[in-house]
Amino acid sequence: MKAIVVTDQAAGTAGMKLVERPEPQAAINDVVVQVHASGFTWDELTWPPTWTDRLGRDRTPVIPGHELAGVVTALGYGTTGLSVGQRVFGLTDWYRDGTLAEYIAMEARNLAPLPGDVDFTVGASLPMPGLTAWQGLFEHGRLQAGQSVLAHGAAGVVGSMVTQLASEAGAYVIGTGRAAHRQAALDFGAQEFVDLETNALEDVGRVDLVFDVFGGDIAKRSASLIRAGGTLVTIAGPTEARPADGLAVDFVVVSDRAQLNEIVQRVRDGRLRTNIGKVSTLEGAVATLNATERRAGKTIVRVRP
Ligand SMILES: NC(=O)c1ccc[n+]([C@@H]2O[C@H](COP(=O)([O-])OP(=O)(O)OC[C@H]3O[C@@H](n4cnc5c(N)ncnc54)[C@H](OP(=O)(O)O)[C@@H]3O)[C@@H](O)[C@H]2O)c1
Repeated sequence: MKAIVVTDQAAGTAGMKLVERPEPQAAINDVVVQVHASGFTWDELTWPPTWTDRLGRDRTPVIPGHELAGVVTALGYGTTGLSVGQRVFGLTDWYRDGTLAEYIAMEARNLAPLPGDVDFTVGASLPMPGLTAWQGLFEHGRLQAGQSVLAHGAAGVVGSMVTQLASEAGAYVIGTGRAAHRQAALDFGAQEFVDLETNALEDVGRVDLVFDVFGGDIAKRSASLIRAGGTLVTIAGPTEARPADGLAVDFVVVSDRAQLNEIVQRVRDGRLRTNIGKVSTLEGAVATLNATERRAGKTIVRVRP
């Protein structure tokens, strides 16, 4: 099968190559999926599990990409809950070969059925940002209607999901980003917008929940805005930022079939809009993922036309 592989961590996306690889076999509880569309997160080649297995051993050559939509072609021994021919979408294990390939073997539990009226390109764009926003807001942040949320990077891939899900849940959302993102953030449902390049974050006042995607200084300054009992949720890695009287949670998203069902249902009935940027073929993916211009939205590789 055709797949994109990386072998050189220092080279980043410039080291990507389209090559022939053996087709994967389904292990216990796995399925094999024929990939129709694959989602790539712009900085995933900097994540440690991209390069090692769970024991820290080098696992190159690695196939990147952690989101997909496609069709099940084989079941492993003991696999239940999915069937051959079923349309699916989901999020793959960080430590296994990924979705920039014609086929992938992955655990069935990391997939959910993709309804027939949802395009594969849309399906592949949902798992990472949708699940991350869902888990950050409702599991780690315990968001309640009427609370206020500071959604950093509100026009970005994760931030646009955070903004939409939080406002649907009845929260007051203050989005942040660059000046040029104001209208997009408001269109995603933010009631207010803070341009981090010129406005003072401190003018926001107190909030119940900060959803941080940046880490560093912005996370620290945001922590001081949190009301007693509120939460700083960050996806930017371990943080020293702590609210004075609240929780700080850094987490890594996990796949969840019930949550994927909730997310795709919202896309079908128009409550949730996905944020897709460039769409490329597998043949054009290396060039697309190495483009020099600014990237906005999720890059999707349409593996099968
Ligand atoms: N822990 C987890 O489970 C998890 C899950 C998903 C994602 N992540 C991580 O979360 C991060 C965000 O991912 P994403 O896909 O949402 O990225 P993204 O689409 O680039 O979102 C970031 C947004 O913030 C904006 N931005 C960046 N720097 C800014 C600054 N200094 N001031 C104002 N706005 C700024 C970006 O605009 P520009 O494009 O103009 O810079 C973009 O609109 C990534 O590092 C990703 O790896 C972690």
